[in-house]
Amino acid sequence: MKSQKILGIDIGGSGIKGAPVDSKNGKILESRFRIETPDPSSPKDITEAVVQVIKHFKWKGPVGCGFPGVIQKGFVRTAANVDKSWIDTNINKLLSDSTKLPVFAINDADAAGLAEMKFGAGKDKKGVVLLLTIGTGIGTVLFSNGKLVPNLEMGHIELHGMDAEKQCSDAVRKELVLSWEEWGKKFNEYLLTMQALLWPDLIILGGGASKKTDKFLEFLKVKVKIVPAKLLNEAGLVGAALAAKSQYEQEKKSGKSKSKSKSKSKSKSKSKSKSKSKSKSKSKSNPEPKPKSKSKSKSKSKSKSKSNPEPKPKLKPKSKSKPEPEPKLKPKSNSKSEPKPKPKPKPKSKPKTK
Ligand code: BGC
Repeated sequence: MKSQKILGIDIGGSGIKGAPVDSKNGKILESRFRIETPDPSSPKDITEAVVQVIKHFKWKGPVGCGFPGVIQKGFVRTAANVDKSWIDTNINKLLSDSTKLPVFAINDADAAGLAEMKFGAGKDKKGVVLLLTIGTGIGTVLFSNGKLVPNLEMGHIELHGMDAEKQCSDAVRKELVLSWEEWGKKFNEYLLTMQALLWPDLIILGGGASKKTDKFLEFLKVKVKIVPAKLLNEAGLVGAALAAKSQYEQEKKSGKSKSKSKSKSKSKSKSKSKSKSKSKSKSKSNPEPKPKSKSKSKSKSKSKSKSNPEPKPKLKPKSKSKPEPEPKLKPKSNSKSEPKPKPKPKPKSKPKTK
């Protein structure tokens, strides 16, 4: 199959890594290429870094990208460890337009989870599996009988009145120069909370710290079984490639069926379908990555950074697409809880009072 080889890219808080992946067996096909995450880690700068990775491999096919934030239908919803201007950017479109390749983004921890469940420590594991990636942030991934619950942001739960991630990520361990014991005990408190809330059957520890589990496993005192991830730091890019493969294939399929049904409905009622199909293609919240964007959107986003030509999701009224506040102290509530427009009583005869 042609689309078996996918370029996997893992955008992290400190580095951006890439490698071509055989999505059939999760094998990395060429040595990994890594560059430092740019500062600022704005859409423009990260896009440039991604382009660099693609150029390095002279890549021509589909690309999967792990990103350290919530991704819903191609839109970034949170950005705890990257520039906040990412929020509400259509990352799929931005990267596809800039690279002229089909690029599909997924939350970085979800990507790592997918890879671990398919090829690593979670392989064939049923029940509830919680995978934690311990790096710049804490990524949390939950599987129920092998099925992913996406965009879980439990790294941001409150622990002693503070964002848990700010107390026990690997970055914090390094920053505060904590001994493994000190850090391990802190992390254990976090694990106890995870256990109390989720009661998984298995916890897999991934991310940067997964290479050093022998240094801190003895300080972890939860009842749930804990194992280190097997794919270590490569899980992110392997999983990003896996996710891209299935999205790419889905798009190809739905692209075909859409064009079929479009031509059918066109011939049925000409006048109606004309306006309908127009508004449909305009307001699509999950646009297929097309190499060219319309200049219209570019000229509109004057005040935005050049590299982020993506307008806000068109389906939503402005008030709805308001960026969610960064989850600091609570578990992230996803965009289901985006502010609802307040029902305004319509004054019938009087002019507006407010
Ligand atoms: C982000 C998550 C991400 C995790 C690991 C957290 O700060 O909120 O979306 O998966 O870091 O990078």
